[in-house]
Amino acid sequence: MGKAIGAFERRLVTGPSAFDRWLERLRAGDAAPTQDFGPDAIRGAILFAGRADCIRCHSGPLLSDGEFHMIGVPTAGGGAPSDRGRLEGIERLQRDPFNAAGRYSDDPQGTRAKVTRATAPDPDAWGRFRTPSLRSAAATPPYMHQGQLASLEDVIRFYDTLEGANDLDHHGERVLEPLGLAEGERADLAAFLRGVQGSLPDPALVGDPRTEQPDKNAESGPKSAVPGSSNPGSGT
Ligand code: HEC
Repeated sequence: MGKAIGAFERRLVTGPSAFDRWLERLRAGDAAPTQDFGPDAIRGAILFAGRADCIRCHSGPLLSDGEFHMIGVPTAGGGAPSDRGRLEGIERLQRDPFNAAGRYSDDPQGTRAKVTRATAPDPDAWGRFRTPSLRSAAATPPYMHQGQLASLEDVIRFYDTLEGANDLDHHGERVLEPLGLAEGERADLAAFLRGVQGSLPDPALVGDPRTEQPDKNAESGPKSAVPGSSNPGSGT
């Protein structure tokens, strides 16, 4: 089951974006804006990697460091956060008989198994969430683990002002500081995020699995109304 889910997830990829095409040209020495990656998106990219320092966590090809951080987004209903985030994830992982170090693993001495054994339920993991990829995030509102922010503009306003943020002090170190952006700069960041939108995964992969997908190999003709009833001769 785990491998089937892994194989499925590896097919949920998005295509190259306007930003990737612009980067290609930049590597060849041409920094000029393009039709779909305009001057505002370029200013946004410079902010993202520069003064706004989004790249501290949203780095690499997926625009994620793959790590967990507590960024204190206000909860959906207001009030104190109750989702223990990574801490709960680690506890579940350790109890799970199907984890990479478990008796059903086909590689109990492998790297994943070692990482699993070494991942302790550290109280510091409370309320941390994995940095999500920002590839094609523009197409998938709402945002954050509870979907508590409705639009990219809301997300940018949050980072800009940190209004209503919870528990940002971690060992006396602040994970985030308000950015104090100008209005135009907020719009530039949004233009950049829209510019990292590539083609989306095949809709057949992300639809409701209970809905029968049109079978490309089948002859066109009336389809059975009841999924699964179209195979009377299977004899099983
Ligand atoms: C300290 C690390 C860190 C920094 C710096 C950071 N982010 Fe994030 N970002 C995160 C984490 C962690 C989440 C997920 C939080 C959650 O789900 O509660 C997130 C979520 C997001 C999301 C929502 C994605 C989704 O699909 O829900 C967007 C958009 C985003 N960040 C953009 C930015 C921008 C723009 C900046 C710079 C202004 C930035 N981030 C700076 C760690 C960071």
